[in-house]
Amino acid sequence: MRADRGEYPFPIPSGWFRVGFREELEPGRIDPLRLFGEELVRVVDAEGGVALFGAHCPHLGAHLGYGGRVEGRSIRCPFHAWRFDMQGECVEVPYSKKIPPKARLQRYPTEVRNGIVWAWYHPQQAAPTWEAPTIPELEQPGWSPLTHHGWTIRTRNQEIAENTADPAHFRAVHGFGEAPDPQIEFEAHTYQSVTLSRSQRGDGSATESRLEVTWHGLGLGVVRSTGDFELLVVGTNTPIDESAVDARFSFSVNTARGLHMDSGAGKAFIGEAIRQMEQDISIWENKVFAPRPVLCEGDGPIGRFRNWAKQFYAGDEARALAAR
Ligand code: FES
Ligand SMILES: [Fe+2]
Repeated sequence: MRADRGEYPFPIPSGWFRVGFREELEPGRIDPLRLFGEELVRVVDAEGGVALFGAHCPHLGAHLGYGGRVEGRSIRCPFHAWRFDMQGECVEVPYSKKIPPKARLQRYPTEVRNGIVWAWYHPQQAAPTWEAPTIPELEQPGWSPLTHHGWTIRTRNQEIAENTADPAHFRAVHGFGEAPDPQIEFEAHTYQSVTLSRSQRGDGSATESRLEVTWHGLGLGVVRSTGDFELLVVGTNTPIDESAVDARFSFSVNTARGLHMDSGAGKAFIGEAIRQMEQDISIWENKVFAPRPVLCEGDGPIGRFRNWAKQFYAGDEARALAAR
């Protein structure tokens, strides 16, 4: 039976979400984006400063992403040429001496960290309650530039993030010989899973590996795999609206540890990550949300995960969710 998306109890969660990558940030660029159930524009000013605004001009509603222009550190509306600074304040109405005090674009807090643009979303526009995430490897020598793979998934951020707290699905969905036995810790807006394993190399010698998954809210899951090689998967999930998520896997490898992205081992790792994601997508797009799941021993910390996830739903929404 297909899930009725309308019955999901989650609104769009608050948090930092990826809204761009370094290679999309040429000065003067304006991109229309549809995220968080809103029409938005991402603007890169002439000096490279990045801002995310509600797309529609407060004057008569033109969409700034279609014909709007960057002028220095400001953006000019295509309809009557009002000009807004990168804080969203109107700074010029070409045919009026007075600027109406409410002439302001809705602006989302943004941060560019390690080549990723993060925007803070909160349904009532509350200020950020935690810092935008950093991924130090992306600035360190040896780590290869990110290569991206993306999907539009008919699901919710919480369903994707719950996967890491669900060890029992790895056998059935991903074909693992045995379920992983991760150490999982929840702390403030993060949760981390660490799995240690021993396996045999082709020559019979033993090798130990460590798989660490760290979630920063419901928008970023960073996978660090350490063993004979070091690999990084930056998993960013940005809500498109209440029924779909723009999900990306962005891969990097530590070339100083002898692995290259286009080597056999690098390709095999990426292929396996994509294969597992697509197995999960098939489940997510067709499941319903079970608000009162029937859990058993071995199911892992799904209940703790859900308690942790409630912090990303604001006020009344969190209470409504908790009351189900
Ligand atoms: S609609 Fe933007 S200036 Fe008139
Ligand atoms: Fe999975």
